[in-house]
Amino acid sequence: MEGISLPIITIAYLFFVDWRMALVALIPFPIAALLFMIMIGGPEYKKLIRKYHDSLEKMNATIVEYIRGMPVVKIFNQTATSFSRFKDSVYAYRDFTVVWAKKGTPPWAAFRVITGISLFFLLPFGTWFYLKGTIDLPALLLCLMLGSGYMIPLVKLASMGSLLSRINEGVSRIDKIFSEPEIPVPDTPKISENYDIEFKNVSFSYGEKEVLHDISFKVKEGTVTALVGPSGAGKTTIAQLLPRMWDIDKGEILIGGVNIKDVPLGELMNTIGFAFQDAYMFSDTVYENIRMGMKNVREKDIIRAAKIAHCHEFIEKLPDGYDTIIGESGATLSGGERQRISIARAIWKDAPIVILDEATASLDPENERLIQEAINELVKSKTLVVIAHRLWTIVKADQILVIDDGRIVEKGKHEELLKKKGLYYRMWNEQMKAKGWKFGTLQER
Ligand SMILES: Nc1ncnc2c1ncn2[C@@H]1O[C@H](COP(=O)(O)OP(=O)(O)OP(=O)(O)O)[C@@H](O)[C@H]1O
Ligand SMILES: [Mg+2]
Repeated sequence: MEGISLPIITIAYLFFVDWRMALVALIPFPIAALLFMIMIGGPEYKKLIRKYHDSLEKMNATIVEYIRGMPVVKIFNQTATSFSRFKDSVYAYRDFTVVWAKKGTPPWAAFRVITGISLFFLLPFGTWFYLKGTIDLPALLLCLMLGSGYMIPLVKLASMGSLLSRINEGVSRIDKIFSEPEIPVPDTPKISENYDIEFKNVSFSYGEKEVLHDISFKVKEGTVTALVGPSGAGKTTIAQLLPRMWDIDKGEILIGGVNIKDVPLGELMNTIGFAFQDAYMFSDTVYENIRMGMKNVREKDIIRAAKIAHCHEFIEKLPDGYDTIIGESGATLSGGERQRISIARAIWKDAPIVILDEATASLDPENERLIQEAINELVKSKTLVVIAHRLWTIVKADQILVIDDGRIVEKGKHEELLKKKGLYYRMWNEQMKAKGWKFGTLQER
């Protein structure tokens, strides 16, 4: 406010003291106003701000990606410069800011000069008026003082304006995220009576590319269904469709005969528990990581879940036990430990349907045994959908679905699938060969 009102009041007062001096003081004003408009008002500036945010966003994203990929970069003995996307985005940001500075500096410098230049006009005119005797000394001094500084608040206004434009651009970006359509809520909510699962001719695409084609299968309540298949076949995607992490394009998904789109979202979330392959850990205490922000959970239950999931022992050994912070500044957990924590989460959630996306990375036998035991506890009397990579863990499953390239190519129990001598048979043989080879080398030592 003062950025505008102060110059106006000053000029008005100058007109009151001596209108000629006021006019002289106003000489540089149109130029200053023009520069002001050029600097922060024009569409050019808005475009620049947008570009600035774009390159900043890109750089931040690639930095995160780069840091996450650090282990791989190290293993392959590469340096930062070899991670070209990271390098390019940083250079692009630098180049952009240099261009921006080059573009922005001359008008800014001119603006600063113009806003301080009034005295250059006031002094000769003032002296002339004084010599002519048309202004007295006190009035002259007052005019010189007020007239030379009245535009200084405009400088503040200009930097404020540029800040506001940047904030506006930021807000409109956040707005875009907030105005994403919410997951549609059912008009007439229905509650499933049992926990049978059915996929009916489900097709799904991430954007353009269809990754699941015409998937149909049934899971009876209380049984174990395993999804197996090559990497990228679509197993995780199928599992994630059940809790509506994405909505499907074609077909229907039913739980207990009710389309999941008709089940209230909160109810659906209570029905399904997960333990996912790369379980995300928040940078918070172990306790909070298991509790996951849910209220009304007793500490006793959390610890009980941790015990069942075979987490309790390693958590006790951490520096602050359950209060140890996980993450950058705190303890780091092994893949197996993370997975057991995610199982503990699912255990106390105690949902009737459990989805388990096992880690692909091979674990040491001890970890594998502990996880297997934790899983066995988790799934007692539940409907389980498990994505398994080590086929020997699922030989007892009630149903195995073999997924390849977004389709179910084989369906049945372990023995039946072996007899088919198809993809499952080949995968099984390969894994047995690898296992045998591993034991072989162990024995040779
Ligand atoms: N968020 C996503 N956006 C776009 N495409 C995706 C996304 N997630 C997965 N895909 C693609 O969908 C296909 C199926 O991926 P999905 O993760 O379901 O495979 P998967 O069978 O679980 O593999 P893995 O055994 O390696 O875990 C892949 O081609 C993958 O590139
Ligand atoms: Mg997967």
